[in-house]
Amino acid sequence: MVTTPQQTDIEMQQLPLTLNRDGRSIELRRLDESDGNKLIEFGSRQPSEDLLYEERDITSVADVGDWLHDTEAGRIRTVIAEENGKIIGYSSIERGRLRWTRHVAEIRVMVDKDVRRLGLGHVLLGLAFEAALSDDVAKIIAQMTPNQLGARKIFEQLGFVEDAVLTRHVASADGELHDLIVMRFDTAQRLICAECGQYVLTLIPMQGKQLCWSCYEMMDLELGAG
Ligand SMILES: CC(C)(COP(=O)(O)OP(=O)(O)OC[C@H]1O[C@@H](n2cnc3c(N)ncnc32)[C@H](O)[C@@H]1OP(=O)(O)O)[C@@H](O)C(=O)NCCC(=O)NCCS
Repeated sequence: MVTTPQQTDIEMQQLPLTLNRDGRSIELRRLDESDGNKLIEFGSRQPSEDLLYEERDITSVADVGDWLHDTEAGRIRTVIAEENGKIIGYSSIERGRLRWTRHVAEIRVMVDKDVRRLGLGHVLLGLAFEAALSDDVAKIIAQMTPNQLGARKIFEQLGFVEDAVLTRHVASADGELHDLIVMRFDTAQRLICAECGQYVLTLIPMQGKQLCWSCYEMMDLELGAG
């Protein structure tokens, strides 16, 4: 197994590997059929509002069983992050199941509430994004509720834009209805940041370079600080 220090741009074929982040040792690997209980245990530790938009209930044995079955059949690709035998995050990519949505892939990502803002979401999302691009899909989507601001930000950094807002589309356990935001990335329009090499929808010029939003902000800060 390869050990990487502060690496973020990891590719699927490098898995499994150990990611050293903030003094923690996190294993990144593909989901396998024996992970059912670990997934349920992960789901049951997450806030209910973060489980709302999930297509499958990851606290349910039946839904997790379907997920493992779809993974085995190659319909979904899932990467998990594991620490001390516990799942602490995952990302997945799933192609549209209908004949007329085969060109669309949906990305999902979730990081344990106790290990957020360490960069793990960015790494997991990067893996799923790269897998979707290599599948040659035309459109990648992500779904979230409006109060999932972290999710919106992290997808925007990759170049996703809002595609639609489906009003009163998600029902929580208490019967309340919530809006659902669909974000999209059109792969035909992808451009590459001159600094980090990330695929994005829009580039911002700075000092003769075409930069993604993240690198633009970083360079702007550096120039401002200097
Ligand atoms: C979205 C999610 C996966 C982010 O995971 P994470 O490990 O905390 O993300 P990272 O640490 O890699 O964050 C990368 C960047 O995204 C942005 N970001 C992430 N969470 C944020 C938040 N809550 N508020 C504002 N910005 C945020 C920041 O710019 C961050 O970089 P920084 O920490 O250097 O400022 C996590 O919050 C989560 O699991 N949410 C619930 C599930 C969900 O909403 N999934 C998305 C729908 S598919």
